[in-house]
Amino acid sequence: MTRVCVVGSGAREHALVELFRPHADVVATPGNPCIDGSVSTSPLDVDADLFVIGPEVPLVEGLADELRSRGCLVLGPDRDGARLEGSKAWMKEVIVAAGVPTASHRVFGATELEAALDHVTTTEGTIVVKTDGLAAGKGVLVTDDVAEARADVTAKLTGESFGGAGRRIVIEEGLSGPEVSLFALVSGSTCAVIPTLARDHKRLLTGDGGPNTGGMGAVCPAPGTNPELIDQMMDEAVKPTVEELVRRGIDYRGVLFGGFMLTPEGPRLLEYNIRFGDPEAQVVLPRWVGDPVPTFMAVARGETVDPPVLDDRSMVTIVCASEGYPYSPRAGDLITGLDDARALAGVAVFCAGVGTDAAGRPVTAGGRVLSVTASGSDVAEARTRALAAVSLIHFDGMQYREDIGGTVSAPGEVHRRTPDRGERS
Ligand code: AMP
Ligand code: GLY
Repeated sequence: MTRVCVVGSGAREHALVELFRPHADVVATPGNPCIDGSVSTSPLDVDADLFVIGPEVPLVEGLADELRSRGCLVLGPDRDGARLEGSKAWMKEVIVAAGVPTASHRVFGATELEAALDHVTTTEGTIVVKTDGLAAGKGVLVTDDVAEARADVTAKLTGESFGGAGRRIVIEEGLSGPEVSLFALVSGSTCAVIPTLARDHKRLLTGDGGPNTGGMGAVCPAPGTNPELIDQMMDEAVKPTVEELVRRGIDYRGVLFGGFMLTPEGPRLLEYNIRFGDPEAQVVLPRWVGDPVPTFMAVARGETVDPPVLDDRSMVTIVCASEGYPYSPRAGDLITGLDDARALAGVAVFCAGVGTDAAGRPVTAGGRVLSVTASGSDVAEARTRALAAVSLIHFDGMQYREDIGGTVSAPGEVHRRTPDRGERS
């Protein structure tokens, strides 16, 4: 049986493991106590027929290069292609060269503080200030307030707010519209779309209020989208980008995640990520029909693949986060109800920040703790099921959004539940 190694420890990796499990022998490194097949060894010490790297940091740091240099088959770009996520300035250069519709931008380095401040002061409308380097999803400021933009530019360029990642910034024109996430499988010079669009919800609170997070939930298909939109994004953005990468001698083999804004002028590419989204993977991957292993292996070999077939279910995932997330997540709260939630029809619980206490019971061990996914014949049914599953899960200080997949009610509400069965451990 083919042996697949999934690298990472979050709910996205848990969803990848569950996708492969019926078809392969799966290990996850490091995984987490909720993911069967988790091993604490380095991926470099794992013997597998295929490595699938979940998060961006090891890709940007060159894990795929290292594995490939040892003769391993890897799904995930080398360090050169990983710069699409590792450097927003470089990503913009590539997509502008490729003619992809995107927000206009300028790049400023650490020695250009005055010029950057002048630029934000004289720019009209919404200003977007991004760190060039990785900032765990927290490096972007979107504001209409010039004073706030100036303070952010200063804190970034001096290294105060994001260290080296912010000492180069991209300042962009602010766009507006709903956002969607598109996933393509790129095999060097060809690519195949995963034919759906997902929408994640990055703000902590119901009604898209509160601080930015790694993602509090996701919906698939994103309401209001259609196959023509997917074709347009592939034709206008992903395919020209792949051609541009080839022109630059980059042999990208992996998932390319396009984050688009649907503006009145048409879809605009905001960013590329070099891997599946989290929590988008938890709503896209469960819809995959058939054995994914041959497709993933072919992509890793640089062979052309057909777009995968997805079933026509709608999926909603609700993230349950720990007390204090996203600022200072609390660890050690006992988690109950996982098995009850999993027993519901159409429900899967993917684990991220989960550890075990001395008695081997699951406890919180990170910010985003669980991703509770449910399917339905439409988004409303999926949401009802996901909420029913969440209602069975308890840990002290649990935070989640009840509006994922629904219509917004009171902006800024946070849902906290003090468990009646739970106890702090
Ligand atoms: P990014 O990491 O580049 O996707 O940016 C994170 C978030 O910032 C996006 O999901 C958008 O909500 C917002 N954003 C990024 N670029 C822009 C832009 N040009 N205009 C408006 N909002 C943006
Ligand atoms: N959901 C956005 C991300 O994975 O970066």
